[in-house]
Amino acid sequence: MNTKILTEEKIKEAAAIIKNGGLVAFPTETVYGLGANALDPEAVGKVYEAKGRPSDNPMIVHIARASDIGQLTPRLSPDIVTLIENFWPGPLTLVVKRKKGVPDRTTGGLDTVGVRMPDSQLALELIEWAGCPIAAPSANLSGKPSPTRAEDVIEDLDGKVEAILKGPDCRVGIESTVLDVSGETPTILRPGIITPENIEAAIGKKVVVDPALYVNRPRDVSGEEFKPKSPGMKYKHYAPKADMTVIEGNRDKVQAEIERLKALNERLGNKVGVILFEEKAFIEAAHDFFAKLRDLDRQEVDLILAGALSDTDGVGFAVMNRMLKSAGYNIVKV
Ligand code: TXA
Ligand code: MG
Repeated sequence: MNTKILTEEKIKEAAAIIKNGGLVAFPTETVYGLGANALDPEAVGKVYEAKGRPSDNPMIVHIARASDIGQLTPRLSPDIVTLIENFWPGPLTLVVKRKKGVPDRTTGGLDTVGVRMPDSQLALELIEWAGCPIAAPSANLSGKPSPTRAEDVIEDLDGKVEAILKGPDCRVGIESTVLDVSGETPTILRPGIITPENIEAAIGKKVVVDPALYVNRPRDVSGEEFKPKSPGMKYKHYAPKADMTVIEGNRDKVQAEIERLKALNERLGNKVGVILFEEKAFIEAAHDFFAKLRDLDRQEVDLILAGALSDTDGVGFAVMNRMLKSAGYNIVKV
């Protein structure tokens, strides 16, 4: 397939492709998404194909006006309304009961649907012009780091989709917080830059974090209670081509261990890349993490050594969720 690389002025052309059942990758404030008409099962099916994504993994449906959530869900609780007022447009996906009209293909057969209104002018205009809600997973090949820059999307999807809408680099850098508000207790299924604390402050009640998110080595755990509730959390994810190790512990020791391992490996003839963020610079870490993984892959390093961020529930925790997955939970404690 000949993929059109479109600039902002061609937004109507991009929207027409979506309207006609095609696929367009587009920027949001979090990461680039690969969009299709969320209400057209055939179009959504093509997204799974282009990404090589398992088809039981549900998609997030993007809307341009908060009130459009009414097309997708039968009931808005007071909490949902408060969350929308506080966080939309923005990087918060709400998992809500779905209306019958939302195809199984979009929800992976679940009776809920993830919805968000992105905080990106280009994304909002694309949805408006397309005239339909847009289902969009991150615009990477399944298993690879999420794309935060147009060139990352081109690398993965050129030749596989009708068009790529080029925009600015993504402001946030990690995917939206996924919050399940379909049941009694709001539950975080995927951490992001909107934290449990932010959500609790808005709705005035306790938020639960899916216990599966605290498990460092899910492969060692067989108990039902740790089965992630978000289907997407169980697949191999964000993996760079290089081998990756996360070094965790006291900051000085982490730095020393990274230097030691780097020197050792270089002596063996390995090319080593390092990811070490400023202590507590969590927002910056979120912004840079996926881009760094992709840059190191382009430099063809053999090994990536990454310093863990020390944060138990905030933005740093959200970055660590991605970092540990990228490394296949390969952790060295110092
Ligand atoms: O920031 C984002 O959320 C980006 C941009 C493009 O909006 N999208 C994104 O989509 O990250 P994706 O498909 O890569 O991740 C969606 C996550 C998956 O882990 C999926 O399992 C979960 O959200 N999810 C979607 N709908 C769900 C549902 N109804 N119930 C539980 N989890 C759901
Ligand atoms: Mg993804």
